[in-house]
Amino acid sequence: MKQVKVFLNEKDIPRQWYNLAADLPTPLLPPLGPDGKPVSPDMLAPVFPMNLIEQEVSSKRWIDIPEEVLDILYRWRPAPLRRAVYLERFLGTPARIYYKDESTSPPGSHKPNTAVPQAWYNKQFGIKRLTTETGAGQWGSALAFACKLIGLECKVFMVRISFDQKPFRKTMMQVWDAKCIVSPSNETNAGRKVLKEMPDTPGSLGIAISEAIEAAVTDPTGQTRYSLGSVLNHVLLHQTIIGLEAKKQLKMAGEKLPDVVIGCAGGGSNFAGLSFPFVADKINGANIKIIPVEPTACPTMTRGPFAYDFGDTACTTPLLAMHTLGHAFIPPPIHAGGLRYHGMAPLVCQGIVEGLLEPRAYHQLVSYEAALTWARTEGFIPAPETSQAIAAVIDEAKKAKEEGKEKVILFNYSGHGLMDLSGYDAYLSGKLTDYELPEAELKKYTKDLEKLPKAEMRKTGKW
Ligand SMILES: Cc1ncc(COP(=O)(O)O)c(C=O)c1O
Repeated sequence: MKQVKVFLNEKDIPRQWYNLAADLPTPLLPPLGPDGKPVSPDMLAPVFPMNLIEQEVSSKRWIDIPEEVLDILYRWRPAPLRRAVYLERFLGTPARIYYKDESTSPPGSHKPNTAVPQAWYNKQFGIKRLTTETGAGQWGSALAFACKLIGLECKVFMVRISFDQKPFRKTMMQVWDAKCIVSPSNETNAGRKVLKEMPDTPGSLGIAISEAIEAAVTDPTGQTRYSLGSVLNHVLLHQTIIGLEAKKQLKMAGEKLPDVVIGCAGGGSNFAGLSFPFVADKINGANIKIIPVEPTACPTMTRGPFAYDFGDTACTTPLLAMHTLGHAFIPPPIHAGGLRYHGMAPLVCQGIVEGLLEPRAYHQLVSYEAALTWARTEGFIPAPETSQAIAAVIDEAKKAKEEGKEKVILFNYSGHGLMDLSGYDAYLSGKLTDYELPEAELKKYTKDLEKLPKAEMRKTGKW
């Protein structure tokens, strides 16, 4: 039998995170304030603790992982690298398909890789309480888990559509002692305004982010901060432990570098976590195809313009240079709830602009079909977000077969789908449909961007 699982010992866990900002051939455009001028770190201080702001703006290549953070991560890290031999056999592909199994964390996804350090740095800074938003519920439950272990209170604004689709995610948050509130809510000005204008809205991550930021910055004690589960540089930084482990494990499996690296991308964190250490190899000359995958219903990277935009609906965040569908975008209620964000991590977007990354979009039905093929060969039931990556993996494995090439494909198995069975139920009973964002909708939502500062597309032209 071929080796199907590669494990690292605790002693082999990476002890530093990798910061792509140090190696990007073209630097990121700075976040801008309401006056159109770059924001200074102290302007972010009401929202984030200074130790995380320092990471956000850091250009150091390697940043130490605190021992106390590692002590918590050991519960499931190093995470296994598995080889999908059963899928390979089914497809008859010469490709060797490896996946990093991030579904083994207690909340079931990659999200605690950043929830734990974020809670830890906040605690170090004297903060007592964190607020956040959650789409699919994976992030909210990850932060609830991290806050409980580290000793912080946690309040989560959960997008209404996911709250209805995934009731047990709320229970998980409660088990870890967090408060979970449906968004839009009556607890904040941002939520009340949306409810007044659109009482039946399914909600969006943009609205929930506005609520969570408002709840943090209006705490009169000053002991509450906000925590974001994706998009920002420090979040992507924490996730690079995935790719750094994978690199060691691929070597142990007798492979050199992968030919293809794939991850689904909502705000970009699991994709970046796996791929950025390999993007570094690509910058240094390696020939690797690196593919972030998104839904056609929320086509941020494949159809959204590269522009300065707010991270939230109420326009409270700094302006970030990114691919965006416009901050007012209300995505259709597809089941990949974690892939419904209007923007994308600036580091990922700069990688796209530079030509280092090749984004791709998949329909909902083909992703569920891929998920079923996976569950009926490999056995595990993937999260709907992860299924989007699997759809791309299957395409790449079929392509390798057509070309007769022994490619190494590596992807991020970002989470399990055991809390997402209502989506599978809808698919199996024929209730799901495909949805492609109509051009007129895209134009409507991106119109507001014309009033904001323009983002220059800078690239070296090497890729
Ligand atoms: C399992 C899973 N995969 C992927 C994502 C997308 O987020 P990101 O792009 O930050 O990895 C989510 C978000 O909730 C998720 O729950």
